[in-house]
Amino acid sequence: MRNIVLCGFMGTGKTQLGKALAQRLGLPFVDIDGEIERTTGMKIADIFEKMGEPFFRDLEEKLLREYGSKSGQIISVGGGALQRESNITSLRQNGFLVCLFAKPQVILRRLRDDDTRPLLKSEDKLERIESLLRLRFTNYLKADAFLDTSYKTIALCLDYLSSLTSLLYEGKIPLDFQKAPHRWAFCALEQNHEKLFQFLSDPDVSVRFTSAVKLWKSRIPIETKHFKTGRNIFLKWLLEEVEKIGDSSS
Ligand code: S3P
Repeated sequence: MRNIVLCGFMGTGKTQLGKALAQRLGLPFVDIDGEIERTTGMKIADIFEKMGEPFFRDLEEKLLREYGSKSGQIISVGGGALQRESNITSLRQNGFLVCLFAKPQVILRRLRDDDTRPLLKSEDKLERIESLLRLRFTNYLKADAFLDTSYKTIALCLDYLSSLTSLLYEGKIPLDFQKAPHRWAFCALEQNHEKLFQFLSDPDVSVRFTSAVKLWKSRIPIETKHFKTGRNIFLKWLLEEVEKIGDSSS
């Protein structure tokens, strides 16, 4: 049974949703940052301050390798975990990666008074969030599925994640889910997840493919106004990719 790995930027809801998902599915939950704190007996902020970021990253890498080789767990990883390619390999080995997104302003609102994230210590937190997102989005896009938690309730996010997990465990997600078009299909379906079952149960991949493009295109006008932030860079990229699919499938 594959691990479900929740990755993505700080403040997108990985730990909260991971815990709730594990409880709903009756699976063990592992929070890698929690494991780092347990192993070292230190808070993340203190590890950054006293031992430095490279020490933290090496420990993170070691734990991701260890937990990535097990199965049947819900794992939540720190926001910087996908920055090392070796970590993506460890997590992929036996896991399905769901990247949680949120708009920078929403992340700021959620973390405005938080002092446990050393990388967000800055006079201008919003600028810091946006620049880190810009730096990281290429690797976030290597995930298998995406969920924007910006304006969704926890219950809705949880429904989406458990539908996705059930599909995966029932063998309804094609084994080549890491490749296009399935990844784009997941992106397109992210805000329309009631269609997920219907869509994935279609035996004809090309039908899935075309409906994903159609679904995505129907959302485009609301999302393409500004392409400045990490989320919008992501959308722009996606739009370009979908246009390419559109061209080759028409
Ligand atoms: C980090 C995110 C944090 C934690 C550390 C570094 C990052 O985890 O791993 O502060 O590099 O984005 P959360 O994403 O759970 O806040």
